[in-house]
Amino acid sequence: MSDARELAARALKHFNEGTTDQAPSQMQIPVTAYTDEAQFQAERQAVFFESPIAVALSLEIPKPGDFLTQTIMRKTLLLTRDKEGALHCFLNVCRHRGTELVPLKDPGPTTGHFSRSIICPYHAWSFGLDGSLVGLPQQEKLYPGMDKSAWSLIEVAQLENYKGSIWATWDKDAPPFLSYLGGAKEHLDLTLDHRDGSPGGSEAFVGVHKWVVPCNWKLPSENFLGDTYHNISHRSVDLVGIGPSAAQGTKGRRDAELDDAQHVWISFPGGHGVHSAMKPADAEYHEAFQDNPIVADYYRHCYEERKRQLGDKSRLLPFVGTIFPNTSYHGGQPRALCVWHPHGPEETEIWRIFLVDANAPKEVKELLRRYYMRYSGPAGMTEQDDMENWNYATAGARGPIARRHPFNYQQS
Ligand code: FES
Ligand code: FE
Repeated sequence: MSDARELAARALKHFNEGTTDQAPSQMQIPVTAYTDEAQFQAERQAVFFESPIAVALSLEIPKPGDFLTQTIMRKTLLLTRDKEGALHCFLNVCRHRGTELVPLKDPGPTTGHFSRSIICPYHAWSFGLDGSLVGLPQQEKLYPGMDKSAWSLIEVAQLENYKGSIWATWDKDAPPFLSYLGGAKEHLDLTLDHRDGSPGGSEAFVGVHKWVVPCNWKLPSENFLGDTYHNISHRSVDLVGIGPSAAQGTKGRRDAELDDAQHVWISFPGGHGVHSAMKPADAEYHEAFQDNPIVADYYRHCYEERKRQLGDKSRLLPFVGTIFPNTSYHGGQPRALCVWHPHGPEETEIWRIFLVDANAPKEVKELLRRYYMRYSGPAGMTEQDDMENWNYATAGARGPIARRHPFNYQQS
């Protein structure tokens, strides 16, 4: 696979030649990258075709026969789980005349269950749950000698179920998912793994929060990978104080767990970027949740167990990051995957998938559920600040004068 960043830069250059007074450089991004349909079309091919895109959670289609449709980059995907339990991801189109196999509902995904096969509503070609063409009306008369194996559903080149998150790419030459992640894997793991340090072991709160905002998808993506100082825009919620615990002295919108940590920002080849934090070697456990002994005991236990399992590595804690191009995470609280699916240059569908330790006591889950709602999502008190800025930044990039002047991306 070509370096995704190189492709993105080439797309930017191609579609902005002649539209800005100043030549784009690494430190300047043409504002048309945030508004132009031509730029969006270039990104579809050069970025989203080649990169793994988060498409769902495996728990959304738990049983053989279950299916789910998702519309991503204006194309609808059909995810199935076959009889052996393997996951598949197809274009939701019939190979005969292209009819949608699962008619789309607006808005949002369609979930359901196929009893045996996928039957096209137009002429009833039927496909197995693994995408193979299994039945044709009047086959002997109308299609004598037809090689059905050549007419399976169009399937993505790679589908990875990584700790419950499903990633798809159309590029057959793309590297395996873990190679694509490279060093960012360690940081994504810190988000997906159990709080006691065990691999995996997380589950999503029921449902995926989805909503649409009038902004370019790159604004939220970059916000999570390298925007080091936009705290001022969260000033009001910090004054309110909505942290999850009842720890003494809690202030702001989170607990003070990272107050004594050294924060690090790391860029990885391929465009991933993370913001993590390293606790001092002599750090004490940050007591919290003191008004709820069950929750307090749970987190103290997780801290001790994580230290026992990971040793010195347990000092590294996640904060935020972005897996190129459009999947970000909140690694601490509120722990979540965030996916930014472009509808177009000025519209993005946001997904929030809230994570919690699957075997946590119900008291912990209930406390986190409430915290996640008041922090994130369309009605959360923090994410509203970010969305407002992304909306304004996209609107501000419009127009014949604005498009002549690039944004400043320099920062050491
Ligand atoms: Fe699907 Fe004809 S379009 S069977
Ligand atoms: Fe923010």
